[in-house]
Amino acid sequence: MTQSDNWHERAKNVIIGGVNSPSRSFKAVGGGAPITIEKAEGAYLYDVDGNAYVDYLAAYGPIIAGHAHPHIVEAVQQAMQQGSLIGAPTPWETLFAERLQKAIPELERIRFVNSGTEAVMTLLRVARAYTGKTKIMKFAGCYHGHFDQVLVAAGSGPSSLGTPDSAGVPESVANQVVTVPYNDIASFQVAFAKHQDDLACVLIEPVVGNFGIVSPIPGFLEAIRETTEKTGIPLIYDEVITAFRFRFGIVDYNAVKPDLIAMGKIIGGGLPIGAYGGKREIMEQVAPLGPAYQAGTLAGNPASIRAGMACLDVLEAPNVYPQMNALAEKLEDELLRLAKKSGLPITINRLGGGFTVFFGDHQVVNYEDAKRSDSQDFAVFFKAMLARGVHLAPSKYEAWFLTTAHTEKEIDKTLEAAEASFDEVKSRK
Ligand SMILES: Cc1ncc(COP(=O)(O)O)c(C=O)c1O
Repeated sequence: MTQSDNWHERAKNVIIGGVNSPSRSFKAVGGGAPITIEKAEGAYLYDVDGNAYVDYLAAYGPIIAGHAHPHIVEAVQQAMQQGSLIGAPTPWETLFAERLQKAIPELERIRFVNSGTEAVMTLLRVARAYTGKTKIMKFAGCYHGHFDQVLVAAGSGPSSLGTPDSAGVPESVANQVVTVPYNDIASFQVAFAKHQDDLACVLIEPVVGNFGIVSPIPGFLEAIRETTEKTGIPLIYDEVITAFRFRFGIVDYNAVKPDLIAMGKIIGGGLPIGAYGGKREIMEQVAPLGPAYQAGTLAGNPASIRAGMACLDVLEAPNVYPQMNALAEKLEDELLRLAKKSGLPITINRLGGGFTVFFGDHQVVNYEDAKRSDSQDFAVFFKAMLARGVHLAPSKYEAWFLTTAHTEKEIDKTLEAAEASFDEVKSRK
């Protein structure tokens, strides 16, 4: 038994499932105890057994400046010394909102919350308040948090209403959600035409992060924007993973702009945060100005806000994104070469410093494609990489994320591990 095994056994007696978020368990990679991490610094995680891992998990997205970045640590220390929670306005919230608005001009008005879930959840309420309508449209495989309305999967066919994806979600809620395959313009048009009179909004991850990194095909976002604009139905971009991940701000998407944006993860610099915002006219639905209620005891707390500001300082330095892109490009090229050498077909979807390795040689443009990638191969690869000091996310649907702390040294170590791990996958087939 390792110390990680011991901690997991002990955790299971008090924390349900031994983890505080189900994606941290190793259920999707054949089970076993997750590695218990004692500390994290730069591009590395250190476990309770004294092992070091190159980290590509990046805490599922928020970590982009590396762990324990001194500038972020200092900002949080200062915030704590000046009072960790006030319950009245502080200058930091306004300064941060101004900074976000400068980077993302679509954010005409902003409100800070505590998680990505809260940000999306509130936007659905705001859109309902604004339109007076109830149904929402979302895309299969996109994840938007864990509240009822988005824990809904599609039935069969392009315009079917949802069925609950989780126990405890009422049918009556699932029935209000229309789910459409991602990157399928024709299905979107059919579903939209059928439900447009009842739709309060269309909600999308404009670049998907939750069934692997998947970019929109040309014309997809354009079609959604054109149709929603014509009918006055708000278009919501869920940028919880993507904001500031690929560039400073959000991706350009050929200038296809949303009405509302949900954010989280990176903008908290590793502390809990969410934010939502967009068109002033729609945001004026929110209390105290309007009738849509949303509140939060911890919202806009100085530590999260100042950690987020410090993180943006790091990201605003010259050459940050080109460098992550260059390292990720090298990883992509070399992983493809090494897999080929091992006789394993893989497909890599990459955008800047984030990418997903799918086991299979088919293109991945939607959730069904991602589901078809080989789960068993991924599970073997994941554990082989872990044994060689590289910590990926324990699911074939997640991304590898680079941080500003990754250098050629970590990339070379990763590739060495990958060469042996691909061979291991091949030999187990
Ligand atoms: C696109 C997207 N939206 C919303 C969420 C929910 O954010 P949180 O986990 O902070 O509640 C996530 C979390 O992974 C996400 O990836």
